[in-house]
Amino acid sequence: MCGIVGYVGSGDAVEVILEGLSKLEYRGYDSAGVALIQNGKIRIEKKSGKLNNLKNHLEENPILSQVGIGHTRWATHGEPTDINSHPHYSEDKSVAVVHNGIIENYISLKKDLQKKGYKFISDTDTEVIAHLFHFFYDGDMIDTLRKVLKEVRGSYAFGIVHEKHPNELLCARKDSPLVIGIGENQNFIASDVPALLKYTKNVYFLENGDYAKIIKDKIEIYDYEDKLVIRDKHEIKWTLDQATKGGYPHFMIKEIYEQPKTLEETLRRRIREDYSIDFNELLTKEELENIKDIYIIACGTAYHAGLQGEYAIEKIAKLRVDVEVASEFRYSDPFVDKNTLAIFVSQSGETLDTLLAMKECKKKGATTLAITNVVGSTISREADKVIYTMAGPEIAVASTKAYTNQVLTLFLFAIYLGDLKNSITMEEKILLLNELKSIPEKISEIFKYEDKIKFIAQELKDVNNGFFVGRGLDYKVALEGSLKMKEISYIHTEAFASGELKHGTIALIEKGIPVVVLATQKNLIEKSISNIKELKAREAKIITIAQKSDMELSEVSDRIIYIPDTLDITSGLLSVIPLQLLAYYTSLYKGIDVDKPRNLAKSVTVE
Ligand code: G6P
Repeated sequence: MCGIVGYVGSGDAVEVILEGLSKLEYRGYDSAGVALIQNGKIRIEKKSGKLNNLKNHLEENPILSQVGIGHTRWATHGEPTDINSHPHYSEDKSVAVVHNGIIENYISLKKDLQKKGYKFISDTDTEVIAHLFHFFYDGDMIDTLRKVLKEVRGSYAFGIVHEKHPNELLCARKDSPLVIGIGENQNFIASDVPALLKYTKNVYFLENGDYAKIIKDKIEIYDYEDKLVIRDKHEIKWTLDQATKGGYPHFMIKEIYEQPKTLEETLRRRIREDYSIDFNELLTKEELENIKDIYIIACGTAYHAGLQGEYAIEKIAKLRVDVEVASEFRYSDPFVDKNTLAIFVSQSGETLDTLLAMKECKKKGATTLAITNVVGSTISREADKVIYTMAGPEIAVASTKAYTNQVLTLFLFAIYLGDLKNSITMEEKILLLNELKSIPEKISEIFKYEDKIKFIAQELKDVNNGFFVGRGLDYKVALEGSLKMKEISYIHTEAFASGELKHGTIALIEKGIPVVVLATQKNLIEKSISNIKELKAREAKIITIAQKSDMELSEVSDRIIYIPDTLDITSGLLSVIPLQLLAYYTSLYKGIDVDKPRNLAKSVTVE
């Protein structure tokens, strides 16, 4: 989703902004642009397509500047053309604006401005901000911004420059992420931390409704009540290397390979020597007793992690859980009150659908718990309680290490609840935790089968359709495997509960169609074999994922990938690994931009 970078200092603004935008490419975009103040005038340059188009253009037409804003745009209002790209000028070119989010009342604002004689050249909602700023401009930047913000509804992160204020940069945020980077004699704004890491590790995370005036040696932040405030300074612990590819051809494969290490970190931090779970006294026994309903709410891959979490909490803590897609939840008039625990799972901590569902739950009095990967993210700050996953920065659009860390964290949370409820014995707990502790090493074992997975990916790269099926927990993993394949290989795949196939979907099974069968649940093996036989009878090509000791499955499969033996309940942490690799290599062999698949964004900050 759109990325913003801004700079004010004594360095080369073009270099800093382009470098920052390149670190935000992972968010997904279809055009890029910059606005720089040069000799008291604003110059905007923007190009549709990849950032390199803009870079090449700026090399041929250099701009010397020490203040500016830049943007990568993921189209929402209007086609991804040069004109619709950001930044946007006011009509007299005195103001330039970059924006991430959606101005919900832009049509009425546009009509009002048109009546006042303002002419619009783009189809974007953002252009109204440039004209509004021009309309309200009274010589004082922050005063003008305040008046503009009173007019707009929706979600936004802005960067604004004005030609009469060549040493100032303005920014504002509501429901869209924005951080201020603190440098020496230079300061920055950005949608996400990786854009800043080359220059600074010290940041302010703006609160919702905050806006700020930034000059090279001073940052003034105001809250939504227009009060001058002091926000906590955060030191980012990630290194630039962690946020770069570190020798791997793509972020996705690097992140797949980081899973043993990141899961180990979670286990080390969360499991105490006495086998209790360290979640910092998240809930008391009494609080848990008052909870009647538990929801897990999330989007995409995080939703699939939630499905495994539901399974774990129901089995271990014996509490009923509903998992909901965030974009549906808000409009389904859910049963939520003060006796509800609503858990929000989000890698980025910025997904707007998830954030709005959280706000709805808070309004109805629920206790909200965020499970997120990004410290200081909006969802982490809005929630009553937070558990951070320890996946480190995830850059590839297709989520891998964030997913396994979310699943592991939900498992540990299930054990934590089980302890509070006394629903798990010490022996059961030790067995489960020891198995979880062995998962990182078992994932490394699976990496040894990479060649076999590459071979299957070669076979898959030319198909147009496929299926992922499984029973029980395997079905939940099948959903994630299918999503991964769709996202980055553009092959149409669907996931089904194996037993449901015969109620319709089996009509689509024909000679050679690949079906990935997850068959890791020991008590369901016989049923899985029957399903495979039904599929084979219709000449489907069966690719099975099974536990190593379940050799009998090899007889009915065309291809089989084994995962190390594990408990049935923990198998999802292993069986997803070959599915991630299969999607990665299929995408690679199809020549797709694995880390930045078409139409997708890493951080989805629109509804
Ligand atoms: C986008 C991404 C998905 C991700 C989903 C939820 O759609 O493309 O990969 O799973 O958002 O993101 P979150 O940051 O909330 O986990």
